Amino acid sequence: MKGSIPISGAKNSALKLMAASLLCEQPLVLTNMPNLADTRFMARLLQSLGVTVEWPTGEALCRMHAENITSSMAPYDLVRKMRATFNVLGPLLARVGHATVSLPGGCAIGARPVDLHLKAFEAMGADIVIEEGYVKAAALRGLKGAHINFPFVSVGATEHAMLAAVLAHGETILENAACEPEIGDLAICLNACGAKIKGYGTPVITIQGVPKLTGTRHDVISDRIEAGTFAIAAAATGGNVLLEGARAHDLGALIDCLQKAGVMVDVEAKGIRIRRDGDPLQAVDVETRPHPGFPTDLQAQFMALMAVAEGTSTIKENIFENRFMHAPELNRLGADITVRGNEAIVRGVPRLHGAQVMATDLRASVSLVIAALVAEGETTVNRIYHLDRGFERLEEKLGRCGAKITRQGDSA
Ligand code: UD1
Repeated sequence: MKGSIPISGAKNSALKLMAASLLCEQPLVLTNMPNLADTRFMARLLQSLGVTVEWPTGEALCRMHAENITSSMAPYDLVRKMRATFNVLGPLLARVGHATVSLPGGCAIGARPVDLHLKAFEAMGADIVIEEGYVKAAALRGLKGAHINFPFVSVGATEHAMLAAVLAHGETILENAACEPEIGDLAICLNACGAKIKGYGTPVITIQGVPKLTGTRHDVISDRIEAGTFAIAAAATGGNVLLEGARAHDLGALIDCLQKAGVMVDVEAKGIRIRRDGDPLQAVDVETRPHPGFPTDLQAQFMALMAVAEGTSTIKENIFENRFMHAPELNRLGADITVRGNEAIVRGVPRLHGAQVMATDLRASVSLVIAALVAEGETTVNRIYHLDRGFERLEEKLGRCGAKITRQGDSA
C-alpha cells in the first residue's frame, strides 16, 4: 500500500464524551466526531433521554444540549446493541438523582460484567437494585465523594466512576484507575466544562465534585485503534503509508512490536509513517495488557500480521476470555494458528489465499480484511456490519492506498 490515510476521532472516546453531555447544562460541541454506527446509535439514545442533538449526516461536528432531561430510562433494546450506552447510568444518576438502565449482558468476546461500575456508585452513596435485567439506581440527595480502589484495571469502570463523581459532593479518589488516552480525553473535556479532575493518565485520579457543569467545544482525540489497524495493514502488505493525525505517544506498545517485526516506523510532524520494503516480517510474541501495554483492540489485527511472519509467535489475551474467534477464520485463509486457552500459537506461513470468511466482532472483522489484503486471490468477508460499528469509510481509506475492496449490499 502507498499513500496517506486520515485518522478519525476515537470511537471509544466519542461515546463516553457523548454520555458526558448529560452532565452539562449548556451545549457540549464535539468536533472530529467519527461517523459510525455506534456513535449515531448513542446519539439516538441521548435524544430519547431528552438531549437535543444536532449532528447533520456526514458532519464531524455534533452539538448536544441536555437542558432538560426528560427520561432517565435506557431500555434493553438500546443497551443490548452497544455496551457503551450503559455509561449513561452514572451521568443520569449524578444529574437527576436516579436512573434505570438495562444490564448490557455479555457479548461475543466475553462475559463483560459491570460489577465494578455498580460498586463505585454504591461507594458514592447510590442505592442500587437489579430487577428483571435492569439496574435501578437512586441517589436522591445527590452522590457523595468516595475513595474507590479498583481490584483490577477497568477502562469502563474508571470512565463511568469519573462521569458520576464530577457532580458528587466532596472528593472522589480512584485508585488503580485505567490510564488509557481516552480517559485523559474525557477528563480534559469535563474540566473544560468546569469539572475538577486531576491525575488522569496515572493510576490515581482525584475528582473534586462541583455543583454543575457548563458546556464546551472539544476535539475528540485521534483514534489510536484505527491508526494501529492501518499501521498493521501497511506493515502486512508492505509499502509506505502515512497515518495522518496518528499520535505515536498513544501507540508505544504497537510501534515497539512493529519495529521488532522489522517494520520501519517514523514519527513525522503530520503523523506516523509505516514502511516495509522487501524484507520479510519476523515473528514477535505479544501479550495484551491495559495501557500502556499492548491493546486488546489490536490483538486480532496483529495476529493477522503474525500469520505471514517468519517464525512462530505466541499471542496471549489477558483482557477478554473469548477473543480468539478470528483465529479459525484466519485459518480458512491459510493461516496456521492453534488456540490453547488464552494463548494463540501462530506459525507464520509464506502466503495466505482468498476464501469466504465470517466477521464475529468489530476488531476481528478488520483482522480478516488485513489478512485478505495479503492473501492471493479474492476474499469475501460476511457480516460487515461489525466493521461499520467502528471504522469510518474503511474501504475508501484503504482504497486510497491501493487496496481493492468493494462492498456488496448488507451481508448480514
Ligand atoms: C476494554 C479494554 C479497552 C477496549 C474495550 C473494547 C482494557 C483494560 N480494556 O474496555 O481497552 O477498548 O474493552 O474492546 O484493555 N470487568 C469486570 N467487571 C467490571 C468491569 C470490567 O470484571 O465491572 C472485567 C472485564 O470483563 C475485562 C476487564 O475487567 O476482563 C477489563 O474490562 P474493561 O476495561 O472495563 O472493559 P472495557 O471498558 O470494555
